This record gives sequence, C-alpha cells and structure tokens, in this order.
Amino acid sequence: LTVDGKSYSFPTLEGSEQEKAFDISNLRDQTGYVTLDRGYKNTGATKSAITFLDGEEGILRYRGYSIEELASKASFLEVAYLLIYGELPTKEQYAQFEGAIRHHTLVNEDMRKIFDGFPVKAHPMCVLASLVSAMSGFYPESYEGNGDENLDIVRLIAKLPTIATWSYKRSMGHPLNYPKNKLGYIENFLNMMFALPVEDYTVDPVVAEALNILLILHADHEQNCSTSTVRLVGSSQANLYASISAGISALWGPLHGGANQEVIEMLEEIKAGGGDVAKYIDMAKNAKTTGFRLFGFGHRVYKNFDPRAKIIKKAADDVLSKLGVNDPVLEIAKGLEEAALNDEYFVSRKLYPNVDFYSGIIYRALGIPTNMFTVMFAIGRLPGWIAQWKEMRETKEPIGRPRQIYTGSTLREFVPM
Ligand code: MLT
Repeated sequence: LTVDGKSYSFPTLEGSEQEKAFDISNLRDQTGYVTLDRGYKNTGATKSAITFLDGEEGILRYRGYSIEELASKASFLEVAYLLIYGELPTKEQYAQFEGAIRHHTLVNEDMRKIFDGFPVKAHPMCVLASLVSAMSGFYPESYEGNGDENLDIVRLIAKLPTIATWSYKRSMGHPLNYPKNKLGYIENFLNMMFALPVEDYTVDPVVAEALNILLILHADHEQNCSTSTVRLVGSSQANLYASISAGISALWGPLHGGANQEVIEMLEEIKAGGGDVAKYIDMAKNAKTTGFRLFGFGHRVYKNFDPRAKIIKKAADDVLSKLGVNDPVLEIAKGLEEAALNDEYFVSRKLYPNVDFYSGIIYRALGIPTNMFTVMFAIGRLPGWIAQWKEMRETKEPIGRPRQIYTGSTLREFVPM
C-alpha cells in the first residue's frame, strides 16, 4: 500500500504458523464434535423440494420435471412459475403471472440516477447487484414487513432484464431503451438490448428460442455458491431484494457464473495460439508447470456428463447453423471436448464439459458481449433463487450460522508498540 509516496507493508499468512494450522490435510473430517467440511461438500445443511440432481447419473429435474423436457417444451416464465410455486401453471395462472410481469417491467426513473453515477467501465454485474439492492429502498414495504411477497417476486423478474440492458447500452454509447410491454419476456429483453431508435429491429425467433433454452437451463441448480448465499442472507429475514443482490454478487466470481466468460477467453487464446487442440490438452494435463487451466471442464457435482452441457452443445450447433454464424471457437471447443473424452487423464478424472463450456459460444452468436454473460446467467437463475428464498422462509429455517474450527493463536499478551 502506498500513501503519499510512502510504502506500507502488512504481514501475510504465507509461511506462518497460522497458515500451517490451516493445512487441514491431516485433520480429515472429524475434530471433536464438529465436522469440518469446508465448502459443505459432504454434509447436508438444507432440505429442499425444488431441484433434484444426481451427479452420478447426470440427472437434473426441476420439481420432478426433467430438464430435457422443460428445455424443449416450456417457456422460461412457465419454468419460473414452476420453480417458485411448485406446480406448472394452468392457462389462467400463467396469463395472470405473465401479465403481472409485463405490467412491472418499467424501472423507477430515480434508479437511473443511481445508474448514472457508475463509471462507464463498471462491470455490469457490479451495477446489477447494486441496483437490485437499491430496489429495497424504492419498495420499503419489503423490509417494513407490510409488503406483498408476490409483488416483490413479480417486480424482480420483470425489472431485472430492463436493468441488465442498461450497462450494455451505455457501453455502446447508445440511448437506453424502455421496455415495450406488447412484447413477451425474452423478446422484450432482446429489444431493449439491440433496438436502436434510428432503425427497425425485429426479434429473430431463432435467437429468442435459443435464449429461452439457455435461461431454462440456468434457472436452478440446487445448493451452490449463489443459491446458498441467497438462503443464508434471507435466513436473517433480510428482504428479497437484499438477498437476491447478495446472490448476484456470489454468482459474479469466475469459479461460478463468471466461468463461461473464462471459457470464451480461453478458446480465443487457443485460437490466437494457432488452434492446436492437442497442444493445449497436454498443457492442461501439466497445468502445474504450464499454468494453463482448462475452463468449462468438470463439475463438483457431476461425476458424469452435465446434462445441461449436452443440451447446450446441440443448441449451439443449431443456433450457429440457423443464424449462419461461423465461429471458429465452436470447432475448437468441439475439438477440445473430443480430445478430452478420448484421453485417459480426463476420463479417469471424470472431467467432462459442463454447462459453461458451450453457453458463451451461443451468447456470442446472439450478439451478447462477453462481459454480459454472467448477467445472462443471473437473469436465468433469478427464479431459482426466488424459489429457494421462499422455500427457506416457508419452512421456517433458522438463521444460518456456519460453525468454525479455530486454528489461530491461543491467548497472547498485548505488548504496546
Ligand atoms: C450452477 O449452475 O450453479 C453451477 O453449475 C454451479 C453449481 O451448481 O455448483
């Protein structure tokens, strides 16, 4: 740290006794009466009836419906309703839900003033998390306890795409677009993203269909970093906007929602390096010495194929061919996948492509820039977060409080400087 030309250094944990104490490799999992499980890998801390995952078999179901079936037959808002309320909507319920969302797409003009205060180069996820958090201030009944939870749910689903498009429009130097409520949910988002006042814009149904699939595939994934965050924050009775804002921040990290951005950047690097897939597969196998990391492979839960990856791979092929987009990184991605699936190193470690491997390629083909990929994930994940937050409150879960195993110093005597 440098202040007024003077450098200050602070001690780090590196090499210290404290760092050694953090080495839990010999501790394994049983210490006294507390089970140490960093990252909650093995202990169940949540009961939930929303999403079923079988990592061994590669199965993913929302409320009992297979992801394959939902992705091919349902609309994103139907899936949102299913996740949040537990059942697929009847025609009347759907009309009511969808109608309410259409009605609430407009964002308070004063939110624009907050947005205008951000530097143009601010990452869209930082803007999104901040503005969603700010929504509590615009709807104080959400924390005063006299609000309508369903209205908060509808507002969030309705307004998130509107806010999400602002960062992109401003980064392009374009005027922001207001929502058009004659359009459906996905069409409205695409219109706000891509329409320009100087020319006509018509939503391409191929693009809308691809986006529908992507949003459905991202709609929930049981307990993970962002979802557990939403539940943990919500367990203190924090309101929905505050809880979802925390989830958006958790999603932002490159190990979670930011992963598909890393994948595209990696594929670009391989392309720039001549596209020799075998070379990079070798580099990935020797990551310790080469420093090359293969993003988009492997998943903490799936010991088999990520079922979403299969659907996305097919969607990527379909969309790119229907749109006539020839993206060389798709070929590189397929080459990497094939090489890895035929390589003992990857097979024995069960490192298969995950959901992030192909999604960025589709987003790019749809014209969505790389720094908006995680924002797209957030729009997709919103119904899942809401469903988890709602379930957590309805089942009266107590406030979360992870236990710790203390590894620091014992009592030390304070000696003045
Ligand atoms: C997700 O969809 O949230 C990711 O695959 C991360 C996870 O579930 O662990």
